[in-house]
Amino acid sequence: MSYQETHRRSLEQPAEFWSGLAEELHWYRRWDHVLDDSNAPFFRWFVGGETNMCYNAVDRHALGSKRGQAALIWESPEAEQSRTLTYHELYREVNKLAAVLKYNGVERGDRVIIYMPMVPEAIFGMLACARIGAIHSVVFGGFSISSLASRITDAEPTMILTADAGLRKGSPVQLKPIVDEALDLAETDSVKHVLVYNRDIINCQMQEGRDLDWYEEIEQHGQQYVEPERMKSTDPLYILYTSGTTGKPKGVVRDTGGYMVALHASMSQVYNVGDGDVYWSTSDIGWVVGHSYIVYAPLLKGVPTVAYEGRPDHPDPGIWWRIIEKYGVTCVFTAPTALRALRKFPEHWMKNADISSMRRIFSAGEPLDAPTYEWATEVLQVPVIDHYWQTESGWSMLANSVGIEDLPIKGGSPTFAAVGHHLEVVDIDGNPVPRGTKGLLVDYPPLPPGMLMTLWRDDERYIKSYWSHFQDKLLYLTGDYAIQDEDGYFFMLGRADEVLNVSGHRLGTREIEEVISAHPAAAEVSVIGVRDEIRGEAVLVVAVLKSHISKADEDNIANEMRQLVRDRIGAIATPHGVHFVSTLPKTRSGKIMRRVIRAVYQGDNLGDISTIEDDATVDMIREAVDAMQREL
Ligand code: PRX
Repeated sequence: MSYQETHRRSLEQPAEFWSGLAEELHWYRRWDHVLDDSNAPFFRWFVGGETNMCYNAVDRHALGSKRGQAALIWESPEAEQSRTLTYHELYREVNKLAAVLKYNGVERGDRVIIYMPMVPEAIFGMLACARIGAIHSVVFGGFSISSLASRITDAEPTMILTADAGLRKGSPVQLKPIVDEALDLAETDSVKHVLVYNRDIINCQMQEGRDLDWYEEIEQHGQQYVEPERMKSTDPLYILYTSGTTGKPKGVVRDTGGYMVALHASMSQVYNVGDGDVYWSTSDIGWVVGHSYIVYAPLLKGVPTVAYEGRPDHPDPGIWWRIIEKYGVTCVFTAPTALRALRKFPEHWMKNADISSMRRIFSAGEPLDAPTYEWATEVLQVPVIDHYWQTESGWSMLANSVGIEDLPIKGGSPTFAAVGHHLEVVDIDGNPVPRGTKGLLVDYPPLPPGMLMTLWRDDERYIKSYWSHFQDKLLYLTGDYAIQDEDGYFFMLGRADEVLNVSGHRLGTREIEEVISAHPAAAEVSVIGVRDEIRGEAVLVVAVLKSHISKADEDNIANEMRQLVRDRIGAIATPHGVHFVSTLPKTRSGKIMRRVIRAVYQGDNLGDISTIEDDATVDMIREAVDAMQREL
């Protein structure tokens, strides 16, 4: 069936479409209703059904014909180690850890925060939670104290899984000490235990009674078998925090059954991957791509998944290509930022390895710019497929679904809507715009399986963030600008809100502003994203200092502000530049106009500033802009 027909069927007969795909998986109890849309915009899939994600991702293969086949391939240039686990070995490890969690009081529905480096044990942790019905919330190991503390406060976990440290270009990145500080800062005493996987990278203090040693616990309480919980399809599998437009991260809640069915289907439909393939997503389990395409989707499909601890250029820029050769990787999922980083190096680095096993490269997370797309296609000699999605969606929203129909690629376009998604480009009133006109990308209800259920304990914010932008129209707002060409191909034109995208990682301007505002010298702070050749966007701080601060202190203050961001949020949010100005352009109601600051900094055309904000006075803005143009 063609893409057009398949897509139409998915929208016109969603129940038939998705139930056929759900039948390929194991259910303890079959669903009563495929879709319950009676409480829109809260859509529930496979209602009444009972299943277990871990059973489907691990047991189903470990107890079947894939028992001895590779499930998880861990490759760590950082630790100079690698490890391959078969489905049965993975099954054993997950069971043992599940027993440890249970022994230490983790119950169905409890939250468990996983703050770990890219080691197999972190993945055992996710699967062990899924097995016993605990809700995991993985926090990226590059985040620091404040980010972790706010997630602990919000999720109220009973347990935290961590390691002594991660590694970055051979240097330790502390984890356990950050957990200790974050627990002091968090506004909850929900955490009963911290389970510490000690890699002997740093010495860490263990708190008697609270902290537990991973190896000792596995030895004493790990068991070979723990019965998987029969979970409702609509029970949450995980919470994953992502940045929004306020300082407080949003806890995206994912269901069990709908997500499982969508991910499993996406492996064939979007990636055209199945038996005989080796799948490698170069992301980190701290991000949604890691959840979906390092852990759950490849395992559900029963293909080996590569988990990678390291960077694209360490110990040298040939490392990725050697890994592809070593394991015969057939499908790679990466981010444009990594491709841009590798493009800087001479081509012999990739030509030295035999990468002929690779059939396709998929890219997501940020715009795939034309020069990078063309370079990758030419040098790697495989189709480079852009696809677009979000933490909220869990899997593709826009894709060239090559497993359904391999459509012609247009460089820079993530092609068409994935099955189940009805996407349109609309104006500010929610009316579709003609082809060739820029607008907001929206998804029509009902949302397909896999999309977020709500925000953790905040249904109101879920509605406010995604569903309340258009009067009288219930449309899911992606937060992105897009345009369609005359053939209907979508092109992404960046965020319509104040969310940054640095190296494919999502950061909120408000989160960074709040941290910098805590500096005693700061009077007013504005954080914007500016164009950056490698990272896509870079963090720029434009601030006004308190009046008594002398010019001579500015360099020190800028450094302190940078350090503050590193310490509180993490290295990925470190400002690229910190500039001090005498005044910031604001609306009459006092809202800082980040768009104007960005235009001034980048030397872009300011456009007609009188129409930018209703309540801004042109003179006020002009004055600020003139001053900024002199100062920036
Ligand atoms: O702005 C879009 C951008 O990344 C955002 C989602 O980021 P995150 O929640 O981290 O999830 C990433 C999952 C792949 C989107 O709202 N984005 C993602 N993919 C693309 C993209 N921008 C342009 N082209 C893409 N292919």
